[in-house]
Amino acid sequence: MTAQRSRSDSEAATALRTHRAGALTRDDVGAAVRLGGWVHRSRDLGGIVFIDLRDRAGLVQLSFDPRWTPPEVMTRAASVGAETVVLVNGTVAERPEPARDTAMRSREVEVHVRGLEIVGPAVTPAIPVGRKEGEELPAEELRLRHRVLDLRRPELQANLILRHRLFQRARRTLSDLGFLEIETPILTKPTPEGARDYLVPSRVHPGEFYALPQSPQIYKQLLMVAGYDRYFQIARCFRDEDLRADRQPEFTQIDIEASFVSADDVQLVVERVLADLWAEAGVSVPTPFPRIAWRDAMERYGVDKPDLRYGFEIRDLTALVGADAAPFVSEATGRGGRVRGILAPGAATASRKELDAFAAGAKQAGAGGLIWARRTGNGWEGQGVKAIGEAALTALGGADGDLLLAVVGVDGVTSPALHAVRSGLIQRPGVVATTRHAFTWVVDFPLFERDETGRHVPAHHPFTAPHPDDIARLDRDPASCRAQHYDAVYNGNELGSGSIRITDPVVQQRIFGLLGLDAAEIAHRFGFLLDGLAAGAPPHGGFALGFDRIAMFLAGASSLRDVIAFPKTTAARALFEGAPVRVDPADLAALHLRPSGEA
Ligand code: AMO
Repeated sequence: MTAQRSRSDSEAATALRTHRAGALTRDDVGAAVRLGGWVHRSRDLGGIVFIDLRDRAGLVQLSFDPRWTPPEVMTRAASVGAETVVLVNGTVAERPEPARDTAMRSREVEVHVRGLEIVGPAVTPAIPVGRKEGEELPAEELRLRHRVLDLRRPELQANLILRHRLFQRARRTLSDLGFLEIETPILTKPTPEGARDYLVPSRVHPGEFYALPQSPQIYKQLLMVAGYDRYFQIARCFRDEDLRADRQPEFTQIDIEASFVSADDVQLVVERVLADLWAEAGVSVPTPFPRIAWRDAMERYGVDKPDLRYGFEIRDLTALVGADAAPFVSEATGRGGRVRGILAPGAATASRKELDAFAAGAKQAGAGGLIWARRTGNGWEGQGVKAIGEAALTALGGADGDLLLAVVGVDGVTSPALHAVRSGLIQRPGVVATTRHAFTWVVDFPLFERDETGRHVPAHHPFTAPHPDDIARLDRDPASCRAQHYDAVYNGNELGSGSIRITDPVVQQRIFGLLGLDAAEIAHRFGFLLDGLAAGAPPHGGFALGFDRIAMFLAGASSLRDVIAFPKTTAARALFEGAPVRVDPADLAALHLRPSGEA
């Protein structure tokens, strides 16, 4: 799924060049061309010099030969260093031997150079841009420090070109569906999305702060109240949170909101956008996507973003467990726990080391241990025979070669542990996916989760409408209420999230109350939203797609940093430009701030 190059390079002609170097083909043979680009590699064969010239479209071979190159140009070509910017002119000719790289568009041609001008001398590059075959990439930290050089790599250029095309496609699809692109502020009032805010001090209002938006959530709802019934934005979002491989402190969403819609209406639009984005990368995606209720996803896969390319479903074995089970199992089930496990076909070949790794994964996810048993020609064997008992294993059935991996405990323990186990099973050699692209909707999330301190926190955000069938239980039993919240999941990754929103200010206030906010706090933080909702709010709902994640998957990249031009490290540092930085105490004073450490 690499980026296709633009079909026409005619827009490339400028006062200084006629073509892009990498775009030349047999059709151009005989043409007099002027090119500008970077010296990717050069080879001096003693008397003849070859330079691979690189630009956005790729590489082309420049051939310097006394038969067509004047002597002073020969001398200059022999001494030009890597990554120097040159302007050349010459004639396109058939290459005596096409380049071996079949992906190289200009592989069949070369340029017989007559003139060479050095316009951008370059110091010796700190990291190589053109790598030799099999040469490893420099360490990522070094690449991020020298990001300009790193960004010259054809792989990153292809990623950013693809990213551009995905943006254009999303814009076209949404605009064609009647969505209006409207910008919302970057200096905002905090909009909670579960992370900390990046705060910006106000110079003119001492002690007051703006927040950078975690998402345009409240603004897009207010746009619905204002009558713009279909909104979208390619929105930059900022979240001060612990970073993981699939998170950046600033990232981009395709943010959508629509009025007079049901959840199905929103999902239809999102499916259209996703199908078009995948089509842009050459992949046809069947719609509609299957839907799975959150409860079923947790039951069958142990996670709210199941990877449906694979089977390995979780089964409940509790009812099978008999009197011959080990005491720790009967005690756990007696206390309301369950025995849940995965029967993995063919996995009985797992080595002791693999089993230990599965157990380590389950323990890291919170389980006390992992029960295992394998079925061979002699029946079941392994520590699981003692643990859950012969009777349960017999009742389980299975075939020779199966491996059972099971965990006992409450669902809050068994689900994450079995998700870890399942992720390990999926990665075993020889495991085959049933499809390459498995999209699914996860629907009917719970309205609340509990944080570490046991307090209710919104599973999505506080503006999500409760499920209409559950709203009567809101005060009595909030933990059992479902939300009109849905996630789009792709190959085990959350691509985006959305919900139908609360439009009744009274319900919205009740939710804030359940989250522990008092009337004064509600008025202070969310008064502008409540006033908006009271001004005549249409039913509305929306969605936000994580655009960087989408670009990463479609580029076949393994890190968000490979699809963002100037990303941050996992420690939220910008290594290239060097941010964050200490600032001058005088600048702090102007913002009414004191350097840290001062009282
Ligand atoms: P949510 O917070 O789930 O929903 O974000 C939507 C999607 O944005 C992506 N995402 C991120 N990508 C990179 N780095 C991050 N730090 C990061 N955080 C989130 C994910 C996620 O699924 N306002 C709501 C949407 C709505 O209700 O309409 C929201 O922002 O792919």
